[in-house]
Amino acid sequence: MLESLRSVVSLKPIERDRTVRRLSSAANVDDLRAIAKRRLPAGVFDYIDGAAEDESAMSRNASRFGDRTLVPRVLKDVSEIDASTTILGGRAPMPLIIAPTGFPRIAHPDGELATARAAARAGIPFSLSTMGTRSIEEVAGVCDGRKWFQVYVWRDRELTKDMLARCKESGFEALYITVDTAVLGRRERDVRRGMSLPPKLGLDTFIEGAMRPGWVLEFLRNDPIVFSNVAVSTQRLSNSTEDGSSAVSLAEYINSQFDPRLSWDDVAWIRSNWDGPVILKGIQSVADAKIAADEGIEAIALSNHGGRQLDSSPAIIDLVAPVADAVGGDIEIYCDGGVRRGSDVVKAVALGANACMIGRPHLYALAAGGEAGVDHVLNFFQQGIEQTMALTGIASMSDADQSIVSE
Ligand SMILES: Cc1cc2nc3c(=O)[nH]c(=O)nc-3n(C[C@H](O)[C@H](O)[C@H](O)COP(=O)(O)O)c2cc1C
Repeated sequence: MLESLRSVVSLKPIERDRTVRRLSSAANVDDLRAIAKRRLPAGVFDYIDGAAEDESAMSRNASRFGDRTLVPRVLKDVSEIDASTTILGGRAPMPLIIAPTGFPRIAHPDGELATARAAARAGIPFSLSTMGTRSIEEVAGVCDGRKWFQVYVWRDRELTKDMLARCKESGFEALYITVDTAVLGRRERDVRRGMSLPPKLGLDTFIEGAMRPGWVLEFLRNDPIVFSNVAVSTQRLSNSTEDGSSAVSLAEYINSQFDPRLSWDDVAWIRSNWDGPVILKGIQSVADAKIAADEGIEAIALSNHGGRQLDSSPAIIDLVAPVADAVGGDIEIYCDGGVRRGSDVVKAVALGANACMIGRPHLYALAAGGEAGVDHVLNFFQQGIEQTMALTGIASMSDADQSIVSE
């Protein structure tokens, strides 16, 4: 009896590493999100997961990917799948980029350093935010892969200029100018919770912390979370007052420091201070995409900031084909917002994007398992892209065109 049972049942050995065990139960980005929700204090999770007002732009970003189907062609030789592509002149094994996000160290103390290393291992560009919690120099110190920097334009132009000089010194390749944040969107989950950034450990965080002791211990054990990029430039310049360490409401900070007068002239000013490629992030219309192409900008990122800015903004995947029809070939086109599976990436590329970017997926992954979590989510995308290509009947990413997508 025991013998015959043993012949059919083979028990998997119990995994001793808790992170590996946790990640092996995450089959997709939604599972990583659920783990992040369990591990993070509610205010921190909501800051990452939330969006503006009714969060309809965020929902639309995802649902419009789902509305599109692929047209599978069969009996094609898909024994060798090649998902690689060229992004800004460099090869990447898949058309994916880590989007810039502020405060990644609230998701996990290893924050940007972990994500930058994982992106380098996966061979894709990593983007550091102005509002990052590790500095340009710290990221350059651990990451020999492709590094891009996202700049917000500060009222104090010297601060912006200094960040560009530091990027150049540290080998950053490309620069995003985020153009959808003239003022901060109304993120109502943060309003309700009075969320401050960098996070301040108030009584409510400690009460919540009793249920999330792992996060609180890590928070207390590690370097304080500060606006690292602002802090370094402030120390280099004598005329700035912000040292990046005070806890403020994000809306208060952005609305006092970012320049709402930002215009195409400022884009020209930034380009005169930067000799690498520039990506305009937050383009949401064919009209603006045309101006960017006419101005000779190297790339645009179609983005509504993951639905965190204007809640009535269009779903990003709806913009890809019209923009590609208007300016494709003249300018590289990236897109983000709701990219959750390899099939989403294949759809976007087929409609005319050069690559997709992911924001929340890598933050959920960080929260779920640190650097191993980011490796996990990047493997998930690489495998998902290749599997989708095989099942759609395209062996090479260059074969993905508008004929394989229908609505
Ligand atoms: C927590 C969080 C912080 C973000 N911070 C920035 C930022 O500092 N600069 C920026 O240009 N975009 C920022 N974004 C937007 C992302 O770059 C990206 O556009 C968006 O997350 C894409 O949508 P997705 O989260 O659905 O992938 C942030 C997004 C999130 C979720």
